[in-house]
Amino acid sequence: MKSKISLILLATIKFGSIAQNTLLYPYGPKYQDRSTPKADDGASPEISISEYFYFYGRKYHSLYVNNNGVVSFGNPVSQFTPDPFPLMDGRAFVAPFWADVDNRITGEVYYRQSQDQGLLQRVTADIHAYFPHETFIATWAFVATWDQVAFYGSLSSKVNTFQAVLTSDGKVSFVMLNYQDIQWISGQASGGDAHTGLEGTPAQAGFNNGDADNYFNIPGSWTPSMINISSTSNVMDPGRWVFEVDVFAVPNGCVYKANFLPLNAIFWSESTCEKKCQCMLDTHTVICQANGCSADEVCAPLHNQSLKYYQLEGKVQGTAPDAPHIEYLHMVVYGQDIVLMTNSTGHVMIGGIKTLLPVILLGGKIRVRKSGFSVKIDTDFGVSVSYTGNQHVEIGVSARYQNATCGLCGTLNENPSDDFSTPNGSIVASVALFARSWQAKNVEDHCGDIQQPSTCPLTKLANYSSSEYCGILEKSPGPFASCAQILPVSSFMEVCLDDVCTSGGNRTVLCNLLHIYAERCQAANITVGQWRGETQCGE
Ligand SMILES: *[C@@H]1O[C@H](CO)[C@@H](O)[C@H](O)[C@H]1NC(C)=O
Ligand SMILES: *[C@@H]1O[C@H](CO)[C@@H](O)[C@H](O)[C@H]1NC(C)=O
Ligand SMILES: *[C@@H]1O[C@H](CO)[C@@H](O)[C@H](O)[C@H]1NC(C)=O
Ligand SMILES: *[C@@H]1O[C@H](CO)[C@@H](O)[C@H](O)[C@H]1NC(C)=O
Ligand SMILES: *[C@@H]1O[C@H](CO)[C@@H](O)[C@H](O)[C@H]1NC(C)=O
Ligand SMILES: *[C@@H]1O[C@H](CO)[C@@H](O)[C@H](O)[C@H]1NC(C)=O
Ligand SMILES: *[C@@H]1O[C@H](CO)[C@@H](O)[C@H](O)[C@H]1NC(C)=O
Ligand SMILES: *[C@@H]1O[C@H](CO)[C@@H](O)[C@H](O)[C@H]1NC(C)=O
Repeated sequence: MKSKISLILLATIKFGSIAQNTLLYPYGPKYQDRSTPKADDGASPEISISEYFYFYGRKYHSLYVNNNGVVSFGNPVSQFTPDPFPLMDGRAFVAPFWADVDNRITGEVYYRQSQDQGLLQRVTADIHAYFPHETFIATWAFVATWDQVAFYGSLSSKVNTFQAVLTSDGKVSFVMLNYQDIQWISGQASGGDAHTGLEGTPAQAGFNNGDADNYFNIPGSWTPSMINISSTSNVMDPGRWVFEVDVFAVPNGCVYKANFLPLNAIFWSESTCEKKCQCMLDTHTVICQANGCSADEVCAPLHNQSLKYYQLEGKVQGTAPDAPHIEYLHMVVYGQDIVLMTNSTGHVMIGGIKTLLPVILLGGKIRVRKSGFSVKIDTDFGVSVSYTGNQHVEIGVSARYQNATCGLCGTLNENPSDDFSTPNGSIVASVALFARSWQAKNVEDHCGDIQQPSTCPLTKLANYSSSEYCGILEKSPGPFASCAQILPVSSFMEVCLDDVCTSGGNRTVLCNLLHIYAERCQAANITVGQWRGETQCGE
């Protein structure tokens, strides 16, 4: 038994060291590394380097290794609380993890320059793997390693291990940043907590050339997310970031305004959403084009606020599939209880009290008003509900709710195949099962069983698809043609065919639907032609 246990231990240790070797280049006294002095905010002496190192187009032949997580050119860096880049004071440096390191407490800051063939071959192979079109052959490498370093004022055992590898062939140069283990992100003098190394001003990582234009922030810099930098990468190797730095370039992405963007990333370049940009797969450049919001979109930061919870229930009277009738809608939002009674469009029930419209609640966070024939609830977080007074409820949800809704209106993730998700996440095939799974449990009286709606027979479908019925929506030229080019009509068409068919061709049902679509067109400032005459919907 005893020998078995020690075997397992040996195996574990071996795996540990293999994992470590793949990310960090070898370092330490065994490789003739030097150490920086154990001093607060200290640095190595100026180190002359045996090959030119080009950095943002400028040529250097010396550098400093600074305890606070920085390799600098020209001058040492003693600043302990990092600033976000760019710093326009002329300081040029590489910051693998700029924060208040204290190697007097524990840890070593090692460095060496090397022309060792084994090391240069490894660097060359890595660069070729990440930049497949490069013909680069390393003639010089510099390895700086912060090995299990503590933070200033630490009352904890938290330590960080990370590395910067600089390499050059005398003309072209690269930097590889390796994050092995990050346990703290700020020192106590930067507002950090002495016990956790969190809070305060978090570490900054990236490149600074001392001017306004040439700098780069590694994603997460100066934010609490720095604690997770060892699971991020631009080369699919968690914990590793690789850059060409003579002329700044990043593999597998684009640099836009000093930020990294993964290939194919699509984003708006300004907060006003006037320009939509994409990091192009083939050229690794960002292409922007004018692209404002359409009528039914709003411009807002995607993850600015946490999503607000809302809940909407309706009571449907009549269980036969061809005669449903919405009796009331019940919305719970911001702790308010709002009931739209469909037999009375002039009033709503707020917390059980019948109230005349319009109603403004919580200083404008919620507004309930009449809008045409509808009653509409608007919230300040982009969710709106309108009951159009005739069997139809529309729920408008801002794009921030992508993949965050559930219920009868589906999952809002552009994947229609999972729309029939039940509360427990299983996907069912039948409409009846789906509807039953969302049936509210706390309704006072028993709701009848929900039946599968009958599908519309093909002969009837053909009739109702004609321009005498729902087909008018798609008719071109036709009263809705110019609107249909802008507001997609196909989902409306589907609803129309369903409803008109189950009602046996009831004109009132048809006219109500066309009315809703016409209102939407008007809301988007699109003129609708004379549809009432053509559909016998009256004037
Ligand atoms: C770090 O990653 C973990 C695991 O993914 C996550 O739970 C945590 O919220 C992240 N922390 C920060 C500050 O981003
Ligand atoms: C982001 O959210 C905050 C707080 O909810 C809000 O005050 C601010 O206006 C929002 N910013 C933008 C650009 O919408
Ligand atoms: C509307 O219906 C509710 C209950 O369903 C009833 O209490 C109320 O009196 C009705 N209002 C009108 C104006 O008919
Ligand atoms: C939606 O959310 C689920 C669970 O949070 C996640 O597994 C899924 O990948 C998300 N889908 C999309 C399209 O974002
Ligand atoms: C999930 O819900 C569906 C329908 O409501 C039900 O048939 C199924 O058994 C449930 N599955 C689990 C694991 O609870
Ligand atoms: C189309 O449907 C209407 C209403 O159901 C019906 O009166 C009419 O005869 C149908 N037309 C044809 C060609 O089937
Ligand atoms: C048509 O539908 C309306 C509203 O749903 C209803 O009031 C009317 O009685 C129906 N007409 C016929 C002929 O069924
Ligand atoms: C429609 O036009 C009106 C008046 O010109 C304008 O105030 C409104 O913002 C426009 N709405 C949309 C959605 O473009």
